[in-house]
Amino acid sequence: MDRYVTGAVIRRLRERKRMTQEELAEKIFVSGKAVSKWETGQGFPDISLLEPLAKALGISVIELLSGEDIRNGNRSSDMIRSRFYVCPVCGNAIRSTGEAVVSCCGITLPALEPESADGDHAIDVRISEDEYFVSLPHPMSKEHYISFLAAVSDHSVQFVKLYPEGGAEARFRIDRVMYLYAYCNRHGLFRISPQPVHER
Ligand SMILES: [Fe+2]
Repeated sequence: MDRYVTGAVIRRLRERKRMTQEELAEKIFVSGKAVSKWETGQGFPDISLLEPLAKALGISVIELLSGEDIRNGNRSSDMIRSRFYVCPVCGNAIRSTGEAVVSCCGITLPALEPESADGDHAIDVRISEDEYFVSLPHPMSKEHYISFLAAVSDHSVQFVKLYPEGGAEARFRIDRVMYLYAYCNRHGLFRISPQPVHER
C-alpha cells in the first residue's frame, strides 16, 4: 500500500476530538507510547487497529486511510448541492447530497466538477407540456456517449440513465429544476441552468 495512515492525520483527528494520546490509547487498548510513536512516524498502527482507531477518532476507515476527513455540511439535504461520481472501472454512477467519501471498485472517487456545456455537449432544453425535453447533439456510440442526464431542484433529483445507440435525450418534470446535467463518458460532466425555448 503506497499510502497508509499517517501520524499527522492521527494527531490532527485526535486533537480535534480533544483527546490526549493516553485517552485515545485507552479506547483502542494500546499504550500511550504506541500512539505517540504513530504520531511521530516511528511506527504504524497494526492493520487490525484501523477500524477501532477510526471509530475512536469519529471517522470512517476510508477517511482515515485517505487522510481526509469529509464532513457533510449539507445537513438540510438541499438537493441543489448534489454531487455526482462515476467509477472509471465499472461505470457506476453515484449521487450524494453533500460531501461524502465515495468508493467503488477499490477506488476513492472524486466528485465530478461540472463544466459549462457547449459544442457537442451543448444541452438543448425545450418545454413540452409540463416537461423539459432535454437533448444533446452528441454521438451515442459504444466508445463515446452520454451516459446519464439529471435534473436537479432544491428538493429532487431526476436521473435518467442512457445507453449507446439510444438517443441523447430525456424528459424531466419541470418541478423547480435549477440545473440540468449531462455526463459524457469521455469528456465528463456538463451543467446548465435551463433557459428553455418554448415549443409552438
Ligand atoms: Fe463527449
